[in-house]
Amino acid sequence: MSDYHIRLYKDSDYELVRNLFECGILEHTRVAFYHSLTVPHIWLFMLVVFLFPLLTTGSIPLSILAGTLAIVGLWLGTTDIYHTYVQHSLSDDMQDIHKYYLQRDGYCYWVAESAGEVVGMVAAVPTSHSSGERHIELKRMSVAKSHRGKGIAKVLCRTVIDFAREKGCSAVILETSFAQIDAQRLYEKMGFRYIRTCYAPKFTAKLIDFRLVFYQYDIPTGR
Ligand SMILES: CC(C)(COP(=O)(O)OP(=O)(O)OC[C@H]1O[C@@H](n2cnc3c(N)ncnc32)[C@H](O)[C@@H]1OP(=O)(O)O)[C@@H](O)C(=O)NCCC(=O)NCCS
Repeated sequence: MSDYHIRLYKDSDYELVRNLFECGILEHTRVAFYHSLTVPHIWLFMLVVFLFPLLTTGSIPLSILAGTLAIVGLWLGTTDIYHTYVQHSLSDDMQDIHKYYLQRDGYCYWVAESAGEVVGMVAAVPTSHSSGERHIELKRMSVAKSHRGKGIAKVLCRTVIDFAREKGCSAVILETSFAQIDAQRLYEKMGFRYIRTCYAPKFTAKLIDFRLVFYQYDIPTGR
């Protein structure tokens, strides 16, 4: 028997939910940073930053300093993408979760509770496709590190799919990032299909090859 259950969000969950959201996003900074170090134009940039002081002043310490500063800049640029996203979300839908998700038709927010503690969460937001079809967007999926690998995310995912079906929607859509490998595996395992990839709307995102990945789950009709 599972040691957790899924229920609707309550205001008293706020601090834990906020923390789960922040940690779940920020934990990918390192993967995105390491990835940026493999991008060819970043290599070229690093080479120029290193060689320029060396060739103009002949100073190796200055070249190393310039290279180090460039790497620090790259790290700060990567963390900025994640922190900006977290700050934006916390002042948007995550500011008053009850009001945003539980007082509006078609929206919802669930948590997974284990031993009285919130260990997972997911949200649903109604959207409409240009074809006129109604979709549900799956958002804010996160499971505490201590409770991963127990199938909690699969149950949360299924909760959103069932909700979308009850609302008469034709699909569940979602957006994740290339760095969220576990999430991509989860969604593919749940039957979501890859739709497209694009750059996040920020100059630094393009610079460090930070891509968003879109998935869709088509709800079978007649069930
Ligand atoms: C992605 C995440 C929600 C998965 O939570 P979870 O409860 O551990 O996932 P589950 O135990 O339900 O696993 C579901 C499936 O996902 C895949 N999966 C999840 N974590 C995996 C891992 N570390 N390695 C390989 N596959 C993994 C597996 O296919 C797994 O199914 P299986 O065990 O039957 O093979 C969790 O890792 C997380 O919170 N990550 C940080 C936040 C995040 O990236 N959220 C997604 C926002 S779009």
